[in-house]
Amino acid sequence: MSEEKNISIHGQWSSRWSFILAATGSAVGLGNIWKFPYITGEYGGGAFVIVYLICVALIGIPIMMAEVMLGRRGRQSPINTMRALAKEEGRHGIWSWIGWMGVLAGFLILSYYAVIAGWALAYVFRVGSGVIQASDSAGVQAIFSELVSDPEKLLAWHTLFMVLTMVVVARGVKQGLEKAVRLLMPLLLILLLVLVGYAMNTGHFNDAIDFLFKPDFSKLTGGAILTAMGHAFFTLSLGMGAIMIYGSYLPANASIAQTSIIISVADTLVALLAGLAIFPVVFSFPDLTPGAGPGLIFQTLPLAFANMPAGTIFGTLFFILIVVAAWTSSISLIEPAVAWLIENRGMTRVSAAVWAGLATWLVGIATVLSFSHWAFDFNFLGAVKHNGVFDILDILTANIMLPLGGLFIAVFAGWMMKRKHSKEELALNHSYRLWWFLIRYVAPVLVLVIILNLFGLI
Ligand code: PHE
Repeated sequence: MSEEKNISIHGQWSSRWSFILAATGSAVGLGNIWKFPYITGEYGGGAFVIVYLICVALIGIPIMMAEVMLGRRGRQSPINTMRALAKEEGRHGIWSWIGWMGVLAGFLILSYYAVIAGWALAYVFRVGSGVIQASDSAGVQAIFSELVSDPEKLLAWHTLFMVLTMVVVARGVKQGLEKAVRLLMPLLLILLLVLVGYAMNTGHFNDAIDFLFKPDFSKLTGGAILTAMGHAFFTLSLGMGAIMIYGSYLPANASIAQTSIIISVADTLVALLAGLAIFPVVFSFPDLTPGAGPGLIFQTLPLAFANMPAGTIFGTLFFILIVVAAWTSSISLIEPAVAWLIENRGMTRVSAAVWAGLATWLVGIATVLSFSHWAFDFNFLGAVKHNGVFDILDILTANIMLPLGGLFIAVFAGWMMKRKHSKEELALNHSYRLWWFLIRYVAPVLVLVIILNLFGLI
């Protein structure tokens, strides 16, 4: 094989895969391992999981295809992409607001996401030092509450994580990320399987299966449905432009449908495995409850590691992998803002990263304090939340902003864009009609109904 040919073949293969890897890196993160189990616990399991799965299939996958398609067609930051595409389709420039709302959502999400990633970072060292080996569940809970009630410690870990993120963003997202994801994501999957293997031997695996998959629809409140839908957006990184901007790196001949399905299935699998690893542990300790809230994995996983052979090593590795998974997601949360600063404000990548990072870090302090001095309870559609600003930011972004962003993306792709354009971009045969139906009617109507229902409007 000639060198040229080799390069061209390798180049093409690598480009489709680099998109899949980067997008999977964005999708798989704290959402799968930290958030999915704790909100599933809070909202009662089974029925919530089913709504989430339905949302992934009927709303998530079609909208992911739309986002990738718009990104690939526009080839700029989401704000400029939407402006250019609106112009091309003869539509109003107001559509660029999809990009603006996405930048804001990504910024707000990263502000709290980095704090939680900081917890995971702290746990690399907690578990690594071996303290957890000797603890029982009360001890593990004490370690957790000692960490989160100390804002100074949290601030230090949060700062460290933000610095890690901004260093990668400053160097350009495409370098380094690919390698990290290619190596570490499969490792994360293997360790999750080890954990599930351990969970199978706790004697409570069946309880966990029942909890996760046996729906009790009486537990399905309006808040649960909204949260399940919001989580479908959050976990797939949809509705804020992250997937759109990664889509802009996608070569023209790659199949958008196929790649979107691969990413969504991989992401869902990781979440379900995390659930299967965590709930058996929850059920085997009487003082743990599924509804423990954001601390759930930090109070359960260490116990699993404490009780398994070579637990310190597995545990340390696992928390390292969580940090990496969070890292590859954080990068995509801030990338739309950074790309815009570079394109429209003439900043260099480094100064764009520094300013965006600094602003996010500053807002993140509100979340740091939400677990101690600023903690307050409030009721959100039947669920009691304990962590003030953090919970408000989470509900506002994941449950409102992302679904609204997704709704507008669906309306643009399904109603504003000429059919000819989406057809040529997606290059699907008979399944085009299915996508068309989902993006035009099913996805937007479901999002709208769920949101309007929440406000008591229907
Ligand atoms: N999908 C990421 C996760 O599950 C979070 C994320 C949301 C990343 C939105 C980018 C955009 O952890």
